[in-house]
Amino acid sequence: MLLGVNIDHVATLRQARGTSYPEPLTASILAAESGADSITVHLREDRRHIQDSDVTSLKEVLNIPLNLEMAVTAEMLQLARKLRPTYCCLVPERREELTTEGGLNVRDELGRIREGCEYLANAGIKVSLFIDADTEQIQAAADTGAPCIEIHTGHYADATTPDTCQRELEKITKAVTLAHELGLQVNAGHGLNYDNVTAIASIPDVIELNIGHSIIARSVFVGLPTAVKEMKQLIDQAVA
Ligand code: PXP
Repeated sequence: MLLGVNIDHVATLRQARGTSYPEPLTASILAAESGADSITVHLREDRRHIQDSDVTSLKEVLNIPLNLEMAVTAEMLQLARKLRPTYCCLVPERREELTTEGGLNVRDELGRIREGCEYLANAGIKVSLFIDADTEQIQAAADTGAPCIEIHTGHYADATTPDTCQRELEKITKAVTLAHELGLQVNAGHGLNYDNVTAIASIPDVIELNIGHSIIARSVFVGLPTAVKEMKQLIDQAVA
């Protein structure tokens, strides 16, 4: 199972003071050297953390895949086509949210999302759709022609009782099985941390986990290389 490290919050720290440091590019190189299989950045419409220039320099320098998370808007689609990351993960976006709060509604917005997927595929970009662990959304995702989905694990991560946690885990496991049967590559992410990652990493057929906040938070205490290695180790142990 692969680990994609989301380095948005390195940029959050930089933007908090308007300095030139810490640099997301340096963080990405360190993460890659420490076992990250890909680097994810979310270029938000309000540019609250990652900036366009970060994506450009990551694309130029990184020798592992770059996954660009973005909203399905004309501006972002054009930018993606210009920046040409390896992957684009399409996400819903609301300006007032602290972080992405749920998956795309592919079922109700099939036409618009399918068009976006085709536009990116024509530019040679592999598209992933960030969706909830919901049967209808998975069927709709398969109808877009996108080769990949990322299952939203936020509800599992936010569960406050063992019962809810178990129920969310079962939903995710069922969703992974269906998506895999439909021929989709299945990734997962959001809210995963050192305490809750093992159950998700144990689900067969999940190809990649995308994890950001918990790794960057831990790196304050142990350094980024150790934080990445510890997460990678937990994932590897769960898979073994
Ligand atoms: N996957 C997607 C689609 C996201 O939007 C995010 C947050 O940017 C993540 C994964 C990573 O979530 P977290 O920072 O909670 O690990």
